[in-house]
Amino acid sequence: MGKLTNKTAFISGGTSGIGLATAQEFIHEGARVIITGRYEETLNQAVALLGPNAHGIVCDNSAMSDIHQLAERIKAITPTLDIVFANAGYGKFAPVDIVSEALFDELFTVLVKGTFFTVQQLLPLVREGGSVILNTSVVTAYGSQNASIYSAAKAAVQSFSKTLAAELTARRIRVNAVSPGYTETDGFTKTGMTVEQIAGVKEYITPLLPFRRFAMPAEIANAVLFLASDDASYLHGSEIVVDGGYSVIR
Ligand SMILES: NC(=O)c1ccc[n+]([C@@H]2O[C@H](COP(=O)([O-])OP(=O)(O)OC[C@H]3O[C@@H](n4cnc5c(N)ncnc54)[C@H](OP(=O)(O)O)[C@@H]3O)[C@@H](O)[C@H]2O)c1
Repeated sequence: MGKLTNKTAFISGGTSGIGLATAQEFIHEGARVIITGRYEETLNQAVALLGPNAHGIVCDNSAMSDIHQLAERIKAITPTLDIVFANAGYGKFAPVDIVSEALFDELFTVLVKGTFFTVQQLLPLVREGGSVILNTSVVTAYGSQNASIYSAAKAAVQSFSKTLAAELTARRIRVNAVSPGYTETDGFTKTGMTVEQIAGVKEYITPLLPFRRFAMPAEIANAVLFLASDDASYLHGSEIVVDGGYSVIR
């Protein structure tokens, strides 16, 4: 029997990277999984890869009109959810003097507003004893150049994991966060950086990491699985940092 047998999980942003690896892990442990992404084509590809226990819903995390339809569209698949992993998002990076209002609004919309209202809209479906997991980032733990807006947005998400835990205790819904360090995903190609810039960033960062490598998405997914499962029955309002020690070892 898997750790998530008979459970139904929702994962925002499940078409690639951490979300897709988590969907694979959840299904491997017996869950049925609903994933989202912005584009029908990549969503269909991910659902085909995941197999018959996966469902896909096109939903843009930065569009309130999509988020408002989400619960109804999920109800066409399942009446209730056991697990919600609010993961969808990406980073964009710029020095403070270059940050535009558009960049500020874009990141706060997709990461803060999108995450909050996705969880809010799905809460009526979440069963008592359920688990909500938010994807923050290790950049909340220290000051990182060019990351003022991304870090602040993820810090807001980190804050939600505590306040939502307080509010959902009465419904016995556990709320926790996973805080990934540098992880090998498509995320970097969505930052607006060129292939050369991405290679340069990786070359600069890798020697600074204790294990001299980025995390694999499955290594983050393992922590999300733990938080989703009954193994984490006494974790509430917590955050698991999966950064290979980067934020604490110098
Ligand atoms: N990679 C890292 O080093 C790292 C570190 C810390 C935290 N994180 C966080 O981890 C989460 C997942 O990122 P990842 O690294 O796994 O990158 P990824 O491979 O690019 O995955 C991002 C996922 O989010 C979806 N997504 C992006 N914008 C969306 C939107 N507006 N609406 C709906 N879905 C959206 C993407 O789907 P489509 O593109 O198909 O729409 C994709 O499924 C993000 O919140 C990121 O900030 C990543």
